[in-house]
Amino acid sequence: MEQKINDIKNQILKAISKVRDNGELFDLEKKFLGRKSEFVSILKNLKDLAPEDRKKIGELANKTKGEILEIIKNKKQEIDAGNQDFDKEKIDVTIPGKKRGVGHLNPISIVRREIEDIFTSMGFEIADGPEVETEFYNFDSLNIPKSHPARDMQDTFFIKDTDLAMRSQTSAIQARYMQKHKPPFKVIAPGRCFRNEATDTTHDHTFHQFEALVVGDNINIGNLKHVAEVFFSQFFHQDIKIRLRPSYFPFVEPGFEYDISCTMCAGVGCSACKGNGWLELGGAGMVNQNVFVAAGYPRNKFTGFAWGIGLERLAMMKYKIDDVRLFHSGDLRFIRQF
Ligand code: PHE
Repeated sequence: MEQKINDIKNQILKAISKVRDNGELFDLEKKFLGRKSEFVSILKNLKDLAPEDRKKIGELANKTKGEILEIIKNKKQEIDAGNQDFDKEKIDVTIPGKKRGVGHLNPISIVRREIEDIFTSMGFEIADGPEVETEFYNFDSLNIPKSHPARDMQDTFFIKDTDLAMRSQTSAIQARYMQKHKPPFKVIAPGRCFRNEATDTTHDHTFHQFEALVVGDNINIGNLKHVAEVFFSQFFHQDIKIRLRPSYFPFVEPGFEYDISCTMCAGVGCSACKGNGWLELGGAGMVNQNVFVAAGYPRNKFTGFAWGIGLERLAMMKYKIDDVRLFHSGDLRFIRQF
């Protein structure tokens, strides 16, 4: 009998260390001290024992019961203390949250990434060049004669006492790329350009262009038109047609200015296209053989097309922005809209 009482105590000691909350503690107490427990049946049966056993066992049972109750009480305190820590850590989900500011991409970056995605999906590479450029790459390699007005202080920011200039066009990347790569290739070159210009709603001294350059054995104007139509149609999510108008750039022959069918009225005529159904976009043409020669290719071995276009212009059309100066105004009210 004594043994049994001690066993019960040991079982409780063992079980209590596994108890994690008041619910489990309650179950444990019920199991070992409840009405149907072994312990209570021992107490009930005391009357059947011989008188001296009854006394001895009775005392032991009562003492043990006291000990067990004490153990349970301690455990309860321990659990309650833990619950208080928990209470402190409790999260009140009804308190209004702190708003975190999320950064926004400049629309120029959004548009550049989109352009890069479209062209890389057509197998184009992306090329790069420096913003501070030599006169060779910005002008000479592009067949721009020394006397050309574009070199004039009016248009180009020259760097004093050097042959360097702030790149005035991404065409400067053409010869750089061609010196390192042999045709055939397809490449675009997005980048920042600078011109010494008075600013207004459509002109800024700092802007972005991207150049497209495709060179191979039999590249022709049809290829230029097709690639441009595929690109602009994807970019504006609608069918876009291209119109080439004869024009002059020293680095292309023949050279064109190109228009796209109006993105607002699909060519019908509206206020955005001044009623004529076309929007002027940029310059393009077949690469002048002098440019190939400057890049180190033999004359008349390859043909290629090139075009340049302003990213600001594309972003303004896409997002209906009416002042180019907003792009680098640093005005957060502008940038947060993207
Ligand atoms: N570089 C020319 C400009 O900035 C655009 C252009 C690029 C024209 C390629 C023809 C071919 O105006």
